[in-house]
Amino acid sequence: MNSENKTAESLIVTLPCTGWGQNEPANPQAVEALEQGKVLYLPNLAFMLSEEEKQLLDPSLVDVKRKNISFKPVEGTLTGITDSSKEPLLRGLLQRYYQHSLSLMNQLLPDYTTSLCHPTNSLRLHPVSAWRDKTSWRKDDSRLHVDAFPSRPNYGQRILRLFSNINPYGEPRSWRVGEDFRQLASRYLPQLDRFSPFSSWLQHKVGITKSPRSHYDHLMLQLHDKMKSDAEYQKNGLQIPFDFPSGSSWICFSDQTPHAAMSGQYILEQTFLLPVSGMKHPEQSPLKILESLTHETLV
Ligand SMILES: [Fe+2]
Repeated sequence: MNSENKTAESLIVTLPCTGWGQNEPANPQAVEALEQGKVLYLPNLAFMLSEEEKQLLDPSLVDVKRKNISFKPVEGTLTGITDSSKEPLLRGLLQRYYQHSLSLMNQLLPDYTTSLCHPTNSLRLHPVSAWRDKTSWRKDDSRLHVDAFPSRPNYGQRILRLFSNINPYGEPRSWRVGEDFRQLASRYLPQLDRFSPFSSWLQHKVGITKSPRSHYDHLMLQLHDKMKSDAEYQKNGLQIPFDFPSGSSWICFSDQTPHAAMSGQYILEQTFLLPVSGMKHPEQSPLKILESLTHETLV
């Protein structure tokens, strides 16, 4: 593993946040670091579960056909649960996590307040080892990757994710965090397959994608796949290991920051999408970086 040129401090920025948006001073460093592809680490920001909610920390509650329990707070859609008697408790937990996340984002990243959209969140109850051992390499998130949605093209919108480690046994969530996106994309771009508008149209027509993949979505998915299938990169690419302790939270643009989940169990995750135009520095988005490298308009 090549970590000699990188230290945790250069990829991970620690912020002394203790509350979910209430009375926290704004920190201009947060948006700058985040848009450079760094992880914002909030070691003192725990998301607390009530005694009753702790009974939800049970992997058998997740539908065997799914990886996690998912919730769309605006639509009120809950998916992936096996026991409907637990539904009101789960809805309450996931709705509260969403409200806390929104409040935190508004305080910590005020530039994004009017632009964050399409919130979804998930309760991840399985240990990393459970899905790593029985999944294909493409779905194996213990391999370094940047996030790209295979069936839901997002046309350059940013994927902003907040995670909270709610492990009741004090186990950390162990990640690997990788290099700067421009460096990563410059290296892989010559290896990526060419975009075919016809195949994008066809994949939509037969229902593989919910809308036609743009050139941007094609490149991001290709990048995701090339990273995961590159054994040399996985072993020796620029990366650092980092443990997020139980009781901590962290935020990153997961479409920009190479990451891999190596171990841990019991996580809450909140996703927001953000239009590139809502960023403070749009030129740091994967869309603008890929457009500058390819000299093409990609969406
Ligand atoms: Fe990921």
